[in-house]
Amino acid sequence: METLEIPEPIRERCRSARRAVVFSGAGVSRESGLDTFRGAGGLWERMRPEELATPEAFRADPGKVWRWYAWRWKTAAGAQPNPAHYALVRWETLFPAFHLITQNVDGLHARAGSRGVLELHGTLLTARCHRCGRQRDMGEAIAASPEKPPACDCGGLFRPAVVWFGENLDPEVLSQAQEEAARCDLFLSVGTSSTVYPAAGLIELAQRAGACVIEVNPEPTPFSRRMDLCLGAPAGVAVPFSPRRSRAAG
Ligand code: OAD
Repeated sequence: METLEIPEPIRERCRSARRAVVFSGAGVSRESGLDTFRGAGGLWERMRPEELATPEAFRADPGKVWRWYAWRWKTAAGAQPNPAHYALVRWETLFPAFHLITQNVDGLHARAGSRGVLELHGTLLTARCHRCGRQRDMGEAIAASPEKPPACDCGGLFRPAVVWFGENLDPEVLSQAQEEAARCDLFLSVGTSSTVYPAAGLIELAQRAGACVIEVNPEPTPFSRRMDLCLGAPAGVAVPFSPRRSRAAG
């Protein structure tokens, strides 16, 4: 089903849910003006991930990788949260337990006011020394050295504290996300192509747990056919519906 109509049995499952998980991806920030990775106009249409988002790329050309993330940092810093981000702040108050798990590194969920966001792919707002792990503010690091990664006292280079392809996710963040997905009774997947693992595996965990699983995405994903409900609309339109109320909007 690709409409904003929510069948009564799904509404009832939303109303009675005790543990809700929201799993977000780049599409949730699209209406804030940030590019997605895949699909028409996506970042990976114009750029090659292996040249920008891998440890090998950073070793081969640290300046190129640094400048690309500096551009993304500036774009994210200049963006504002949209109605979907704000609606998800309200979701915290709607369920006895609520967890927001994001693949986004833009920090917009937290800027909207969401607390305790599990950032599976790290954050663009922090720079980390690739050698000793020391952290500093990404904006300050870019201001100090806009063209190439600044050096750390240990002789290493600062890089964005994001997870690159070929790197492991923070095991604590991942295991908490998996735990919550595996014991939720409502799971909302919003703005993700659901193609990058292990993140997309959270959807399978929630389905296996018997949760009511809802997808918000204007385009179908590999999981759409297995969803309890697909809302084929932009996040800023679909997410603000209150899952505790009986009407679709409000
Ligand atoms: P993708 O770019 O793969 O997918 C974004 C999804 O958002 C697509 O399915 C779009 O159809 C959908 N979309 C577009 N506009 C939307 C809107 N207004 N409202 C709702 N949905 C919309 O982004 P992710 O799934 O987040 O990883 O990508 C996962 C990971 O792949 C990222 O974290 C990043 C990327 O490469 C790394 O960099 C490691």
